[in-house]
Amino acid sequence: MSVAIKIDNVTKRYGDHTVIKGLSAEIRPGEFFTLLGPSGCGKTTLLRMIIGFNSIEEGTIGVNDTVINDVPVNKRNMGMVFQDYAVFPHMTVGDNVGFGLKMKKMNKDETRREVDRILEVVKIKDLRDRMPAALSGGQRQRVALARAIVIQPEVLLMDEPLSNLDAKLRVEMRNAIKSIQHQIGITTVYVTHDQEEALAVSDRIAVMNDGIIQQIGTPRQIYKRPANGFVATFIGQSNMIQAVIVKKGERVFLEFSDDFLLEMKNLSDQAEHGQKVCVSVRPEEFEMAADSRTEGIRAVIRSSVFLGAAIHYFLEDMAGREMEVISSTDQEDVTEEGKEVRLIPAASKINVFTEDGARSLIHERGGVG
Ligand SMILES: Nc1ncnc2c1ncn2[C@@H]1O[C@H](COP(=O)(O)OP(=O)(O)O)[C@@H](O)[C@H]1O
Ligand SMILES: [Mg+2]
Repeated sequence: MSVAIKIDNVTKRYGDHTVIKGLSAEIRPGEFFTLLGPSGCGKTTLLRMIIGFNSIEEGTIGVNDTVINDVPVNKRNMGMVFQDYAVFPHMTVGDNVGFGLKMKKMNKDETRREVDRILEVVKIKDLRDRMPAALSGGQRQRVALARAIVIQPEVLLMDEPLSNLDAKLRVEMRNAIKSIQHQIGITTVYVTHDQEEALAVSDRIAVMNDGIIQQIGTPRQIYKRPANGFVATFIGQSNMIQAVIVKKGERVFLEFSDDFLLEMKNLSDQAEHGQKVCVSVRPEEFEMAADSRTEGIRAVIRSSVFLGAAIHYFLEDMAGREMEVISSTDQEDVTEEGKEVRLIPAASKINVFTEDGARSLIHERGGVG
C-alpha cells in the first residue's frame, strides 16, 4: 500500500531568488529515491516542500492522485529524519520513540508493543530504557529513524541523516537504513550531497544542480550514462577530453589529439561531421598501452599510487592536460614514472557530450542494465 509522489513543475522563491525552478519528478511506491547535488542546490528546500514546511509558489505536489499543496503538515502523514538527530534529551529511548503515538492518543499497552516492535526493526531493543546522552551517534540516529517510522507514515523523508557520523559509522548506518527501508517498503525521499552514499542506497537518484534536476536514473544509469557534463563530473571521476566528430561514409569516429581516431557505434544522429565535442572517460575506461603502439592518445606517466587491487596513474598528455587512469594490478607491464604511453578509451563505455557539456550525444542512454 505504498504511495507514489508526483512533483509537477514546482517552483520555490525566496523574494526574487528562485531556488527551485519548475522541477518535476515522479517517485514510485516503495521506492528509495535520492536527491543528490552540491550544497545549496535546493535539496532541503524541495524536501521541506514535500513535507509542508515550505510553501509552493507554482506547480503541484501529489500523493497518489491527491494534490497536497494545501494539506497542513500534521495531516500529511509523513515522517522526517533530520541531520542533527532531533531526539528529546530528557526522555528515554522508548519514550522518544513512543512520543508520536502518545500524541495520537494510543493507549499505553499498545504504545509499548509498537515501540518494542520498531526498536526491534532498527535493532536497538536493548537500549529502550537508556537516555540519549548515553548513546553513540549511530544509536541516536536509529532512535530518530524509529521515531519517524513508528507512526507508520506513508512517506519517509531524510535530510542528510548521516552527515554528523564518522566515515565508518556512515557506511554501517547507510546499510542499516537501506535494509530497514526495504523491510518496511515505505516510499522514501533521501537527501545527500555524498555521491557514494547515493549510489549505495538508492533505487533511483535525481541529480540536482542549481534548483534543476539534471538527470533521474538508477545508480548504474547515472554512473554509466550521465545525461550531461555536470552529472559526469559530479558522480565519480571523469577525464574530460576535447575531440572532434569525423564521419567517413557510414562510419563515425572521434578524433582525439595525436590524430588518434576512435570508432564509435553508439552516437546519436545529432552528432555532425566536424562538430567539437567533450568526451568523458572514467579512469577505469582507458586501456594503457606501451608507446610502441601507434594508436592512442600520447601521455607521460607522472606518478602512480599502488592500492592493492588497482593502481592509479596520474599522467599528462602532450598538451599538458592531466589525466587519471586506474588499472588493475594484474597488468604490470607499463608502470614507471616518466614513461610515455598510449591511452585508448573504451569506445562502448565512454560518454560524449556537446562541447559545452549540456547534452549527451550517446544514442539510447537508457540501455544500461
Ligand atoms: N528560508 C530561506 N530564505 C532565503 N533563502 C533560503 C532559505 N532557505 C534556503 N534558502 C536558499 O535556497 C538555496 C537552497 O538551499 P537548500 O535547499 O538549503 O540547499 P541544499 O539543501 O541543497 O544544501 C540556497 O541558496 C539558500 O541560501
Ligand atoms: Mg540541505
